[in-house]
Amino acid sequence: MDLVNELITDHWQIREVLKDLRSEKATYQRKRRLLKELTELVAAHAKGEEKTANAFARKRLKKLATLDVEEHSTLENLVERLKKTRSQLIWEARMHVFCELLELHLDEEEEEYFPELRNLLPAEESDRLAHKYHQLTLALEKKRPKLKPGLLGWLSGNPPPETFLTNY
Ligand SMILES: [Fe+2]
Ligand SMILES: [Fe+2]
Repeated sequence: MDLVNELITDHWQIREVLKDLRSEKATYQRKRRLLKELTELVAAHAKGEEKTANAFARKRLKKLATLDVEEHSTLENLVERLKKTRSQLIWEARMHVFCELLELHLDEEEEEYFPELRNLLPAEESDRLAHKYHQLTLALEKKRPKLKPGLLGWLSGNPPPETFLTNY
């Protein structure tokens, strides 16, 4: 197994929910449900990422690993604010900000952090951490898409986002 591939597979999953959440057709009720689903995915992914990728990168890619953890905590704070928001208007505005920041976070990881991490991670360590990541993110298991090697990012006939194609 390859840690970066596992992380990107879950990014894919997160992006799919993000897409539904931002759909013009989604009602307010549906958006609230989707946001709950999304925040659970993000929380599990971020925790798994911190205990594997960031733990490994803490000394070697200090700046990127620290930025990653800081962004996770900013996203977490936004989720807490969203949970307490009763006004639909404010909730929609906060949800918009949350989605923008989350997308930016995923883009940054895929474009800057993960390529460097991939270069540094020895294959054996990557395999060990990928197993650990799976253990830590069992909550995601049921929804995790099964991607064939070499077809990473290609799921249900949907073209993968641009970044998947350029970096992987
Ligand atoms: Fe992250
Ligand atoms: Fe991530």
